Amino acid sequence: MSLGQALPHDSARLHVTGEARYIDDIALPAGALHLAFGLSDTAHGVIESLDLAAVRAAPGVVAVFSAVDFPVMPDCSPSAHDEPLLAVDRVHYAGQPVFLVVADSHLAARKAARLGKLSCQALPALLTLDQALAANSRFETGPVVWQKGDAAAAIAGAARVVEGQIEIGGQEHFYLEGQVAAAVPQEDGDMLILASTQHPSEIQHKVAHALSLPMHGVRVEVRRMGGGFGGKESQGNALAIACALAARATGRPCKMRYDRDDDMLITGKRHDMRISYRAGVDATGRVLGLEFLHLVRCGWAQDLSLPVADRAMLHADNAYHLPAVRIESHRLRTNTQSATAFRGFGGPQGMLGIERVMDHVAFALGLEPLAVRRANFYGGRSVRAGASGGDISAEKKPQTTPYLMPVTDFIGHEVVAALEESAAYQARRAAIAEWNSGSPVLKRGIALTPVKFGISFTLTHLNQAGALVHLYQDGSIAINHGGTEMGQGLFQKVAQVAAGVFGVDLARVRIAATDTGKVPNTSATAASSGSDMNGMAVRAACETLRGRLAAFIADKHGVEAASVRFAGGRVRVAGEVYGFAQVVNWAYLARVSLSATGFYATPKITWDRSRGAGRPFLYFAYGAAVSEVVIDTLTGESRILRADILHDTGASLNPAIDIGQIEGGYVQGAGWLTTEELVWDAKGQLTTHAPSTYKIPACSDRPAVFNVALWGRKNPEDTIGRSKAVGEPPLMLGISVLMALSDAVAACGDGSVYPGLDAPATPERVLAAVRRVRHV
Ligand code: MTE
Ligand code: MOS
Repeated sequence: MSLGQALPHDSARLHVTGEARYIDDIALPAGALHLAFGLSDTAHGVIESLDLAAVRAAPGVVAVFSAVDFPVMPDCSPSAHDEPLLAVDRVHYAGQPVFLVVADSHLAARKAARLGKLSCQALPALLTLDQALAANSRFETGPVVWQKGDAAAAIAGAARVVEGQIEIGGQEHFYLEGQVAAAVPQEDGDMLILASTQHPSEIQHKVAHALSLPMHGVRVEVRRMGGGFGGKESQGNALAIACALAARATGRPCKMRYDRDDDMLITGKRHDMRISYRAGVDATGRVLGLEFLHLVRCGWAQDLSLPVADRAMLHADNAYHLPAVRIESHRLRTNTQSATAFRGFGGPQGMLGIERVMDHVAFALGLEPLAVRRANFYGGRSVRAGASGGDISAEKKPQTTPYLMPVTDFIGHEVVAALEESAAYQARRAAIAEWNSGSPVLKRGIALTPVKFGISFTLTHLNQAGALVHLYQDGSIAINHGGTEMGQGLFQKVAQVAAGVFGVDLARVRIAATDTGKVPNTSATAASSGSDMNGMAVRAACETLRGRLAAFIADKHGVEAASVRFAGGRVRVAGEVYGFAQVVNWAYLARVSLSATGFYATPKITWDRSRGAGRPFLYFAYGAAVSEVVIDTLTGESRILRADILHDTGASLNPAIDIGQIEGGYVQGAGWLTTEELVWDAKGQLTTHAPSTYKIPACSDRPAVFNVALWGRKNPEDTIGRSKAVGEPPLMLGISVLMALSDAVAACGDGSVYPGLDAPATPERVLAAVRRVRHV
């Protein structure tokens, strides 16, 4: 039984030997061409002229396209049809593609793309939240407001009011493999697309539209991505569409790979936000009423901004019961890259808002922060491990989220108590206070923060998945499903599911590249639900096939199909033991169908977005982290000294992969909140567009002591193997780092001024906060 085993990633050997093939490694047929975009350097303007003569004359150039070449400009948007492939009449951000070069080499295309002369009549560019708000530049007619109870009244009646705001920076995905796609023309006008995408069906859809083909005329294949992190849900559309158009125009295979700088200049990032809060609290720090104002910088096109901003609202409570709450969210349109999905999909920003409130309340009331967090936790009791969903003692009516979903599976109390103990939180907190009193320059800080993250797509129809499983006559098994592999270990987990159903060794199972020709109408591999959904779909297909094998072999022995056992690579029936391959071969000779589809639709979920009410999530994934940091009060530099994490992945499908996801998520979250700073200049040019200026965490930045443990109890909901999704939730464990930094800064002052640390807490921001609390 391979389910639950800590086996290595199926491509681990290929990854480390460099044999794993990415799009750019795939040899294209002879005559392949290479593409590059020419970009706007103006953030907002009317195009006056575009001189492409030098581009056309450049060595190796085969064709050049701009708006004039398209009677109807193809659209790249995943939502609102507001993203022309190339700028038409106007440019909306610095970095926007304006023309397309097709050349005989990657380098020739890139060099030629530099030679275009774009002249624009500049218009005022809205770059910041304040500018967009003042201009009422937004994607919906007004703000979205969700409320529960009367927050204003509760605040008015509270003993204390704590208010403030936090600026939250965006984040570049920095997938190691940049955006890339290739198009290979097929006979009769059809197109084959190879793409580094989390969403093959959408690429298929968008390319079909651009080429005026039915979807069956386009096939998209994805073997793997070198990281996606949400940045390849929609942001790869432009490359695939450009390749398809150029391939149709030239009749030759076309490939496009963004150079790193272009990737950072063109594509969207995590939404930066400003969250303002006003909390009415009692003397123990319990929040009685809370108002949040979310300002979300969405960039020039809508993309996925509305559901991202929704998810920020959906996580405004995190692990805390808010009896009366009002959340107002503004989705602001600016002349910057179109912000997009990024691990957590707005959830991290929303969650950071409430963690800031907890930290601020504790400071204002002079209380221990963990005590304040606990006082506000949902009070629901945990569901006993192994019980089927809903086994909750109904002595108490479960508390509800701000969107009125009952929280019935809350395990925050237990998880936090266990972590508090294993990380020696209280003792270390005391030791740090002691250490700080003797250390004028270096100051340490510690914080424990919880995570409660909702699992399911909030757009209900996306919660479906399909699979296609083949048994070959030699007993080998080929699996197709709609999920994509981006390093998260989805294929490995799903292979373990299949091997478990047939009771065979993993070596028999091969997961094929994701292919829209095999499994249609798939959702993006996103919302952390890849293994939940594709695991279930594959299981269903495998069970169908196992049922056929069992019926066939049982019939031969005159026994019930239910009595046939599949385990250890053997099939046991009526006292006989056969090899799995033998049974499959007999079934083939007896003309039993050895191919089956499987399907899964997530049950129980309902969501009314306009009211902000329902059950958008099947369940919650939980976790908690303790981070200890040290700051240098002379330079503002900081370091994570130690991290302890206890994370809930239900009954893990693969603990090795889950721990990898948790470590990686935590470090990526910590990077977002510390070193990863995006800076736009006054003209709207992104100045941090390469690793020289944009700092993701390096190996040396991981905590010297890094203890990660799995909670290990079954999911009360009936998920695949009773596991829980793990892809996104651990990123939010990184919030503990910002809170620990806040604690360290607070230790520099006399307790009268709250550090009010914004994110990312770069050395400059830490230094400024230190000066604030020291009244200098
Ligand atoms: N892990 C790796 N190594 N690379 C990635 O690109 N993406 C994350 C997460 N973990 C990512 C990753 C994001 S944003 C999501 S939504 C999930 O993986 C998607 O995969 P899953 O649904 O199979 O967990
Ligand atoms: Mo993940 S942000 O849902 O791709």
